[in-house]
Amino acid sequence: MDFRVRSYRDEDRLQVRRICFDTGYMGESVSWYWKDLNSFADIFVSYYTDHEPESLFVVVDDDDLVYGYLTGCVTTTKGSDPLRAGLRVALGGLGIIRPSIATTIWRSISDGLGDVLIRRVPAIRPFEDPRWPSHLHIDLLEPARGKGMGKKLMETWFERLSQLGSSGCFLETLVENKGAIDFFESVGFRKFGEVQPVPGIRTPQGDRLHRQIMVRDIARS
Ligand SMILES: CC(C)(COP(=O)(O)OP(=O)(O)OC[C@H]1O[C@@H](n2cnc3c(N)ncnc32)[C@H](O)[C@@H]1OP(=O)(O)O)[C@@H](O)C(=O)NCCC(=O)NCCS
Repeated sequence: MDFRVRSYRDEDRLQVRRICFDTGYMGESVSWYWKDLNSFADIFVSYYTDHEPESLFVVVDDDDLVYGYLTGCVTTTKGSDPLRAGLRVALGGLGIIRPSIATTIWRSISDGLGDVLIRRVPAIRPFEDPRWPSHLHIDLLEPARGKGMGKKLMETWFERLSQLGSSGCFLETLVENKGAIDFFESVGFRKFGEVQPVPGIRTPQGDRLHRQIMVRDIARS
């Protein structure tokens, strides 16, 4: 199967939402802890498909089926806010009483409060630093991995940022996602800041997971 990278089109929207759900747990489906595709995709991809589609690139096969994406945001402070999107789902969407997602929402609340009040770790906040104003998310379905498509998506994104004059890009990943960290380092990102426990999401064995910020400077073209 041959793959290539192209710009996002409106007709890719459902496939991108599905891939977000099917890869959201370190490349695997999130369905074991979040049993609702639409609310998950609303939190993690709606901003990019609906408000900044020109910063979204997809990997497609010969039949133009989507196998992966890079969702970017040029100016994070003006763009997506997953915390606010999560609150909308939890409260406005009544997620706190919906059996398909309520357990994870309540665990996020109890983890977050426990971390701050008992373990005394700083509350997890959206990352903001003017040196790296842009950010991205990247996810590929298994058949498209290991074929250079992730690197190609990154090159496409860095070129856009360079043309737009962004000084840098950050991303958030999990310390436990070692393969992804190796990949990000191979395309020029470096670890930045303290590792922090992530509220709500655990391993299937119930262990806590941890956030790692990574940054990369962008040279102007
Ligand atoms: C992480 C991911 C985006 C990488 O994309 P990819 O297309 O598989 O990676 P590429 O084939 O472009 O590899 C580029 C480089 O990264 C390295 N790399 C990629 N995946 C790696 C892994 N799991 N472990 C170690 N190195 C890896 C490759 O060796 C290659 O190095 P080289 O240029 O020196 O040869 C992709 O595998 C993926 O979507 N994984 C699941 C979802 C995920 O974890 N997303 C990140 C969430 S924050």
